[in-house]
Amino acid sequence: MKIRLISAGIFIAMSTAFAATEDIRATVHNLALYSTDTDEVCVFCHTPHGSNSSFTGAPLWNKPIDATVTFQVYGGGQTIGGTTVGQPGDTSRACLSCHDGVSGVNTVINLPGSGGWNSSGTNLNYRGSNLSWKMPWPFAVGKGDGGATNYDLRDDHPVGIVYRGDETNPPASLKPTNTNISGWNISGDKDGNPGPTIGDLLRNGKVECVSCHNPHLNAARFLRSGDGNAFSSLCLTCHGK
Ligand code: HEC
Ligand code: HEC
Ligand code: HEC
Ligand code: HEC
Repeated sequence: MKIRLISAGIFIAMSTAFAATEDIRATVHNLALYSTDTDEVCVFCHTPHGSNSSFTGAPLWNKPIDATVTFQVYGGGQTIGGTTVGQPGDTSRACLSCHDGVSGVNTVINLPGSGGWNSSGTNLNYRGSNLSWKMPWPFAVGKGDGGATNYDLRDDHPVGIVYRGDETNPPASLKPTNTNISGWNISGDKDGNPGPTIGDLLRNGKVECVSCHNPHLNAARFLRSGDGNAFSSLCLTCHGK
């Protein structure tokens, strides 16, 4: 009887997996909820005019990006499987412009309304202050942790890595890039293969933060996989283990 109940529970957990929708207003990325300067949501990341045109990692980006910052990377620059770990790609640098623990979360180039353009950024009021608000642990995955400048990704899943699933001698644990991943939330076709595929998770062929997360998605931890990471389904999408 007990066993039956447990298996019924698992069945329900698996069958209630649902496709999450994009509504950033219902997420912790709605920074306007903590600002007295603006009720606009997108402005903390995007602006329709006067955006950061020297940065192409994310569209119409409204934050300064210091591309000269060097991060300490996973595995001293190489995985056990032999993949080179480079610097985080531009899309990851977009995330890290808030999640490095060093940069101001509330710093934007183009303030809401007319005028107010400053290429090095101006702070919006956030959590009761106009000072630059730095991400605390555990959200500062880049380990700046509220101000220290030790840009450090050594303890994070590698980003800025080529996904070598299609190579002649791929790392043993990787599935091919054309593996179908139905149920995942995908931002457009990136690889030309039909259907949602692992290739659509990559940016310039590489794994970046947005391979696993979509910053607009109303889902736990912004995870793109339809069921979060139940039974490590997210990990098992790319890794055959
Ligand atoms: C916390 C930062 C953040 C906020 C706030 C944000 N975005 Fe984005 N947005 C991004 C990033 C990063 C990307 C690049 C994503 C990628 O490459 O997968 C992006 C990409 C996009 C894209 C193009 C790719 C896609 O996913 O369709 C559109 C359109 C977009 N955002 C619209 C919006 C709108 C509209 C709002 C406000 C309602 C908004 N975003 C709020 C970070 C943000
Ligand atoms: C404009 C600043 C900003 C940008 C850019 C940004 N985030 Fe965030 N993010 C935040 C804030 C603020 C929180 C909430 C932190 C807190 O609760 O103290 C957060 C929380 C999160 C969380 C935790 C969510 C949860 O459910 O606890 C994840 C995951 C995350 N962000 C991923 C990303 C990724 C991936 C990107 C890039 C695609 C990104 N963020 C870009 C500001 C940002
Ligand atoms: C290989 C997939 C993957 C990649 C790549 C990835 N993440 Fe995550 N991230 C996850 C998963 C899964 C979780 C949820 C962990 C949990 O809930 O225990 C998570 C959690 C987080 C959290 C919440 C931390 C907390 O303790 O609540 C933040 C913030 C975050 N990620 C940001 C990022 C940023 C920024 C990048 C790029 C530098 C990134 N992630 C790259 C899979 C990934
Ligand atoms: C978007 C695809 C993707 C997802 C999703 C993903 N990974 Fe990876 N992961 C990779 C790639 C690519 C590598 C590098 C492969 C190699 O060199 O062997 C890697 C490497 C690893 C490594 C080996 C690092 C080393 O030193 O060899 C571990 C462990 C790992 N991932 C764990 C996870 C876990 C746990 C999750 C789920 C939270 C996850 N991965 C989700 C693509 C992914």
